[in-house]
Amino acid sequence: MKDELAEERRKLDEQIAALGEKGGAWNDYLEIRGLHVEFDGFVAVKDIDLTVMHGDLRFLIGPNGAGKTTIIDAITGLVPATGSAMFGGEQLLGRKPNDIVKLGVGRTFQTASVVEELSVVRNLQIAEGFRKKTREFFKRPDTVSQNLLDLMDICNLTEDADKPAGILPHGKKQWLEIGMLLAQDAHLLLLDEPVAGMTPAERQATGELLRRVSRNRTVIIVEHDMEFMRQFADSVTVLNQGQILAEGSVEEIQNNEEVVRIYLGGGDQ
Ligand SMILES: Nc1ncnc2c1ncn2[C@@H]1O[C@H](COP(=O)(O)OP(=O)(O)O)[C@@H](O)[C@H]1O
Ligand SMILES: [Mg+2]
Repeated sequence: MKDELAEERRKLDEQIAALGEKGGAWNDYLEIRGLHVEFDGFVAVKDIDLTVMHGDLRFLIGPNGAGKTTIIDAITGLVPATGSAMFGGEQLLGRKPNDIVKLGVGRTFQTASVVEELSVVRNLQIAEGFRKKTREFFKRPDTVSQNLLDLMDICNLTEDADKPAGILPHGKKQWLEIGMLLAQDAHLLLLDEPVAGMTPAERQATGELLRRVSRNRTVIIVEHDMEFMRQFADSVTVLNQGQILAEGSVEEIQNNEEVVRIYLGGGDQ
Protein backbone atom coordinates (compact mmCIF):
# COMPACT_ATOMS: atom_id res chain seq x y z
CA MET A 1 0.00 0.00 0.00
CA LYS A 2 2.76 2.38 1.00
CA ASP A 3 4.61 1.55 -2.21
CA GLU A 4 1.52 2.33 -4.26
CA LEU A 5 1.19 5.71 -2.59
CA ALA A 6 4.86 6.46 -3.15
CA GLU A 7 4.46 5.46 -6.80
CA GLU A 8 1.43 7.73 -7.19
CA ARG A 9 3.29 10.60 -5.56
CA ARG A 10 6.27 10.10 -7.85
CA LYS A 11 4.02 10.10 -10.91
CA LEU A 12 2.28 13.28 -9.80
CA ASP A 13 5.63 15.00 -9.22
CA GLU A 14 6.70 13.98 -12.73
CA GLN A 15 3.51 15.37 -14.24
CA ILE A 16 3.84 18.64 -12.38
CA ALA A 17 7.46 18.94 -13.53
CA ALA A 18 6.42 18.30 -17.16
CA LEU A 19 3.71 20.96 -16.89
CA GLY A 20 5.91 23.45 -15.10
CA GLU A 21 8.77 23.25 -17.55
CA LYS A 22 6.69 24.94 -20.23
CA GLY A 23 4.04 27.27 -18.89
CA GLY A 24 4.43 30.98 -18.67
CA ALA A 25 6.32 33.70 -16.88
CA TRP A 26 5.03 35.83 -14.02
CA ASN A 27 4.19 38.66 -16.41
CA ASP A 28 1.87 36.40 -18.44
CA TYR A 29 -1.22 37.78 -16.82
CA LEU A 30 -4.48 38.96 -18.30
CA GLU A 31 -5.48 42.57 -17.86
CA ILE A 32 -8.83 43.60 -19.25
CA ARG A 33 -9.86 47.24 -19.11
CA GLY A 34 -13.13 48.76 -20.27
CA LEU A 35 -14.08 45.73 -22.35
CA HIS A 36 -17.29 46.44 -24.19
CA VAL A 37 -19.24 44.28 -26.63
CA GLU A 38 -22.44 45.22 -28.43
CA PHE A 39 -24.62 43.18 -30.79
CA ASP A 40 -26.79 45.49 -32.91
CA GLY A 41 -27.07 47.97 -30.06
CA PHE A 42 -27.61 45.31 -27.39
CA VAL A 43 -24.87 45.62 -24.76
CA ALA A 44 -23.69 42.08 -23.92
CA VAL A 45 -20.53 43.14 -22.03
CA LYS A 46 -20.47 46.56 -20.42
CA ASP A 47 -17.13 48.22 -19.72
CA ILE A 48 -15.66 45.50 -17.56
CA ASP A 49 -12.27 45.50 -15.84
CA LEU A 50 -10.82 42.10 -15.02
CA THR A 51 -7.31 41.10 -13.97
CA VAL A 52 -6.29 37.46 -13.71
CA MET A 53 -2.79 36.75 -12.46
CA HIS A 54 -0.35 34.05 -13.52
CA GLY A 55 -0.95 30.93 -11.41
CA ASP A 56 -4.59 31.78 -10.75
CA LEU A 57 -7.49 29.40 -11.34
CA ARG A 58 -10.26 31.93 -11.81
CA PHE A 59 -13.90 30.93 -12.09
CA LEU A 60 -16.26 33.15 -14.04
CA ILE A 61 -19.84 32.50 -13.01
CA GLY A 62 -23.21 34.14 -13.59
CA PRO A 63 -26.70 33.42 -14.88
CA ASN A 64 -27.35 32.43 -18.48
CA GLY A 65 -26.92 35.38 -20.79
CA ALA A 66 -24.63 37.23 -18.33
CA GLY A 67 -21.96 37.63 -21.04
CA LYS A 68 -19.45 34.99 -19.94
CA THR A 69 -18.98 33.34 -23.33
CA THR A 70 -18.96 36.74 -25.01
CA ILE A 71 -15.97 37.82 -22.90
CA ILE A 72 -14.05 34.74 -24.06
CA ASP A 73 -15.17 35.35 -27.66
CA ALA A 74 -13.90 38.94 -27.43
CA ILE A 75 -10.50 37.96 -25.99
CA THR A 76 -10.02 35.30 -28.68
CA GLY A 77 -10.96 37.54 -31.59
CA LEU A 78 -14.31 35.96 -32.45
CA VAL A 79 -16.44 39.04 -31.78
CA PRO A 80 -15.43 42.69 -32.17
CA ALA A 81 -14.93 44.53 -28.89
CA THR A 82 -13.68 47.89 -27.65
CA GLY A 83 -11.46 48.58 -24.66
CA SER A 84 -8.31 46.68 -23.90
CA ALA A 85 -7.31 43.06 -23.22
CA MET A 86 -3.59 42.67 -22.59
CA PHE A 87 -1.88 39.32 -22.12
CA GLY A 88 1.87 39.00 -21.59
CA GLY A 89 2.20 42.65 -22.59
CA GLU A 90 0.39 42.19 -25.95
CA GLN A 91 -2.93 43.73 -26.95
CA LEU A 92 -5.34 40.95 -27.96
CA LEU A 93 -8.22 43.08 -29.22
CA GLY A 94 -8.23 43.80 -32.91
CA ARG A 95 -6.13 40.75 -33.82
CA LYS A 96 -7.14 37.69 -35.83
CA PRO A 97 -8.01 34.49 -33.89
CA ASN A 98 -4.95 32.64 -35.28
CA ASP A 99 -2.61 35.43 -34.23
CA ILE A 100 -4.10 35.37 -30.75
CA VAL A 101 -3.38 31.63 -30.52
CA LYS A 102 0.22 32.41 -31.45
CA LEU A 103 0.40 34.78 -28.48
CA GLY A 104 -0.30 31.81 -26.20
CA VAL A 105 -4.04 32.17 -25.74
CA GLY A 106 -6.15 29.01 -26.07
CA ARG A 107 -9.83 28.33 -25.54
CA THR A 108 -12.33 25.52 -25.51
CA PHE A 109 -15.94 25.77 -26.61
CA GLN A 110 -19.13 24.70 -24.85
CA THR A 111 -19.21 21.74 -27.25
CA ALA A 112 -16.07 19.71 -27.92
CA SER A 113 -14.25 20.62 -31.12
CA VAL A 114 -11.80 17.78 -31.65
CA VAL A 115 -11.45 16.20 -35.11
CA GLU A 116 -13.52 13.07 -34.55
CA GLU A 117 -12.08 10.97 -37.39
CA LEU A 118 -8.47 11.49 -36.34
CA SER A 119 -6.72 9.67 -33.53
CA VAL A 120 -6.08 11.26 -30.17
CA VAL A 121 -2.38 11.56 -30.89
CA ARG A 122 -2.98 13.07 -34.35
CA ASN A 123 -5.29 15.71 -32.85
CA LEU A 124 -2.52 16.57 -30.40
CA GLN A 125 0.09 16.66 -33.16
CA ILE A 126 -2.01 19.12 -35.14
CA ALA A 127 -2.35 21.31 -32.05
CA GLU A 128 1.39 21.04 -31.42
CA GLY A 129 2.10 22.10 -34.99
CA PHE A 130 -0.27 25.02 -34.83
CA ARG A 131 2.26 27.50 -33.53
CA LYS A 132 5.04 26.28 -35.81
CA LYS A 133 5.89 27.54 -39.28
CA THR A 134 3.51 26.49 -42.07
CA ARG A 135 6.03 24.07 -43.57
CA GLU A 136 6.40 22.19 -40.30
CA PHE A 137 2.66 22.27 -39.74
CA PHE A 138 1.94 20.14 -42.81
CA LYS A 139 4.81 17.76 -42.27
CA ARG A 140 3.35 14.66 -40.69
CA PRO A 141 5.62 13.66 -37.83
CA ASP A 142 6.23 9.91 -37.70
CA THR A 143 7.30 9.84 -34.10
CA VAL A 144 5.38 11.21 -31.18
CA SER A 145 7.31 13.89 -29.31
CA GLN A 146 8.19 13.49 -25.64
CA ASN A 147 6.08 16.56 -25.00
CA LEU A 148 2.96 14.82 -26.34
CA LEU A 149 3.74 11.61 -24.45
CA ASP A 150 3.89 13.71 -21.27
CA LEU A 151 0.69 15.52 -22.15
CA MET A 152 -1.22 12.29 -22.80
CA ASP A 153 -0.04 11.03 -19.44
CA ILE A 154 -1.12 14.24 -17.71
CA CYS A 155 -4.53 14.22 -19.42
CA ASN A 156 -5.22 10.50 -18.79
CA LEU A 157 -5.16 9.73 -22.51
CA THR A 158 -2.16 7.42 -22.88
CA GLU A 159 -4.19 4.27 -23.42
CA ASP A 160 -6.40 6.05 -25.98
CA ALA A 161 -3.57 7.46 -28.10
CA ASP A 162 -4.47 5.57 -31.28
CA LYS A 163 -8.25 5.62 -30.94
CA PRO A 164 -10.28 7.96 -33.14
CA ALA A 165 -11.20 10.98 -30.98
CA GLY A 166 -14.86 10.51 -31.98
CA ILE A 167 -15.25 7.33 -29.96
CA LEU A 168 -13.91 8.78 -26.71
CA PRO A 169 -16.41 9.21 -23.89
CA HIS A 170 -17.50 12.82 -23.34
CA GLY A 171 -15.14 13.43 -20.41
CA LYS A 172 -12.09 12.28 -22.30
CA LYS A 173 -12.97 14.46 -25.28
CA GLN A 174 -12.79 17.45 -22.97
CA TRP A 175 -9.43 16.24 -21.61
CA LEU A 176 -8.23 15.94 -25.18
CA GLU A 177 -9.28 19.54 -25.77
CA ILE A 178 -7.36 20.65 -22.72
CA GLY A 179 -4.40 18.57 -23.90
CA MET A 180 -4.60 20.30 -27.28
CA LEU A 181 -4.39 23.71 -25.61
CA LEU A 182 -1.31 22.55 -23.73
CA ALA A 183 0.14 21.09 -26.94
CA GLN A 184 -0.30 24.42 -28.71
CA ASP A 185 1.57 25.92 -25.75
CA ALA A 186 -1.23 28.10 -24.43
CA HIS A 187 -0.30 30.09 -21.33
CA LEU A 188 -3.74 31.62 -20.98
CA LEU A 189 -6.48 28.97 -21.01
CA LEU A 190 -10.11 29.96 -21.39
CA LEU A 191 -12.43 27.04 -20.74
CA ASP A 192 -16.16 27.32 -21.40
CA GLU A 193 -18.09 24.96 -19.11
CA PRO A 194 -15.51 22.17 -19.23
CA VAL A 195 -17.27 19.77 -16.85
CA ALA A 196 -20.82 20.06 -18.24
CA GLY A 197 -22.18 16.55 -18.79
CA MET A 198 -19.33 14.84 -16.94
CA THR A 199 -19.71 12.14 -14.31
CA PRO A 200 -18.67 13.05 -10.73
CA ALA A 201 -15.45 11.04 -11.13
CA GLU A 202 -14.63 12.83 -14.39
CA ARG A 203 -15.30 16.20 -12.73
CA GLN A 204 -12.94 15.37 -9.93
CA ALA A 205 -10.20 14.28 -12.35
CA THR A 206 -10.75 17.42 -14.46
CA GLY A 207 -10.52 19.69 -11.42
CA GLU A 208 -7.28 18.07 -10.35
CA LEU A 209 -5.88 18.33 -13.87
CA LEU A 210 -6.79 22.03 -14.10
CA ARG A 211 -5.30 22.73 -10.71
CA ARG A 212 -1.97 21.26 -11.85
CA VAL A 213 -2.16 23.11 -15.16
CA SER A 214 -2.93 26.45 -13.50
CA ARG A 215 0.17 26.51 -11.30
CA ASN A 216 2.23 27.81 -14.15
CA ARG A 217 -0.43 29.34 -16.36
CA THR A 218 -3.39 31.70 -16.24
CA VAL A 219 -6.71 29.86 -16.32
CA ILE A 220 -10.28 31.12 -16.58
CA ILE A 221 -13.12 28.63 -16.25
CA VAL A 222 -16.69 29.56 -17.12
CA GLU A 223 -18.83 27.29 -15.02
CA HIS A 224 -22.34 26.58 -13.85
CA ASP A 225 -21.49 23.80 -11.45
CA MET A 226 -21.27 25.47 -8.05
CA GLU A 227 -19.92 22.43 -6.23
CA PHE A 228 -17.10 22.20 -8.76
CA MET A 229 -16.37 25.89 -8.24
CA ARG A 230 -16.31 25.54 -4.44
CA GLN A 231 -13.85 22.72 -4.68
CA PHE A 232 -11.37 24.07 -7.20
CA ALA A 233 -11.56 27.87 -7.60
CA ASP A 234 -8.69 30.05 -6.37
CA SER A 235 -10.79 33.13 -7.05
CA VAL A 236 -14.21 33.92 -8.50
CA THR A 237 -15.71 36.69 -10.63
CA VAL A 238 -19.49 36.94 -10.77
CA LEU A 239 -21.02 38.45 -13.87
CA ASN A 240 -24.58 39.65 -14.26
CA GLN A 241 -26.13 41.37 -17.28
CA GLY A 242 -22.74 42.11 -18.80
CA GLN A 243 -21.30 43.66 -15.64
CA ILE A 244 -19.15 42.45 -12.77
CA LEU A 245 -21.26 41.97 -9.69
CA ALA A 246 -18.60 40.69 -7.30
CA GLU A 247 -15.09 39.31 -7.15
CA GLY A 248 -13.17 37.46 -4.45
CA SER A 249 -12.48 34.11 -2.84
CA VAL A 250 -15.06 31.34 -2.88
CA GLU A 251 -15.93 32.21 0.70
CA GLU A 252 -16.36 35.91 -0.04
CA ILE A 253 -18.58 35.15 -3.01
CA GLN A 254 -20.71 32.70 -1.07
CA ASN A 255 -21.22 35.30 1.66
CA ASN A 256 -21.98 38.17 -0.71
CA GLU A 257 -25.66 38.96 -0.21
CA GLU A 258 -26.24 40.36 -3.66
CA VAL A 259 -24.67 37.31 -5.29
CA VAL A 260 -26.75 34.98 -3.18
CA ARG A 261 -29.90 36.92 -4.05
CA ILE A 262 -29.29 37.19 -7.79
CA TYR A 263 -27.52 33.97 -8.50
CA LEU A 264 -26.71 31.38 -5.90
CA GLY A 265 -30.11 31.79 -4.23
CA GLY A 266 -31.78 30.85 -7.50
CA GLY A 267 -30.23 27.40 -7.33
CA ASP A 268 -27.54 25.83 -9.49
CA GLN A 269 -28.23 26.13 -13.18
N1 LIG B 1 -23.62 36.70 -31.79
C1 LIG B 1 -24.58 37.26 -31.03
N2 LIG B 1 -25.50 38.08 -31.54
C2 LIG B 1 -26.43 38.67 -30.78
N3 LIG B 1 -26.54 38.50 -29.46
C3 LIG B 1 -25.65 37.70 -28.87
C4 LIG B 1 -24.62 37.02 -29.60
N4 LIG B 1 -23.87 36.29 -28.75
C5 LIG B 1 -24.41 36.49 -27.53
N5 LIG B 1 -25.47 37.32 -27.60
C6 LIG B 1 -26.28 37.78 -26.46
O1 LIG B 1 -25.39 38.34 -25.50
C7 LIG B 1 -25.79 37.98 -24.18
C8 LIG B 1 -24.66 37.27 -23.49
O2 LIG B 1 -24.51 35.98 -24.05
P1 LIG B 1 -23.41 34.94 -23.58
O3 LIG B 1 -22.11 35.63 -23.52
O4 LIG B 1 -23.52 33.76 -24.45
O5 LIG B 1 -23.90 34.60 -22.10
P2 LIG B 1 -23.40 33.45 -21.10
O6 LIG B 1 -22.25 32.74 -21.70
O7 LIG B 1 -23.06 34.18 -19.84
O8 LIG B 1 -24.59 32.56 -20.89
C9 LIG B 1 -27.06 37.14 -24.33
O9 LIG B 1 -28.18 38.00 -24.14
C10 LIG B 1 -26.97 36.64 -25.74
O10 LIG B 1 -28.26 36.40 -26.26
MG1 LIG C 1 -22.05 30.69 -22.30
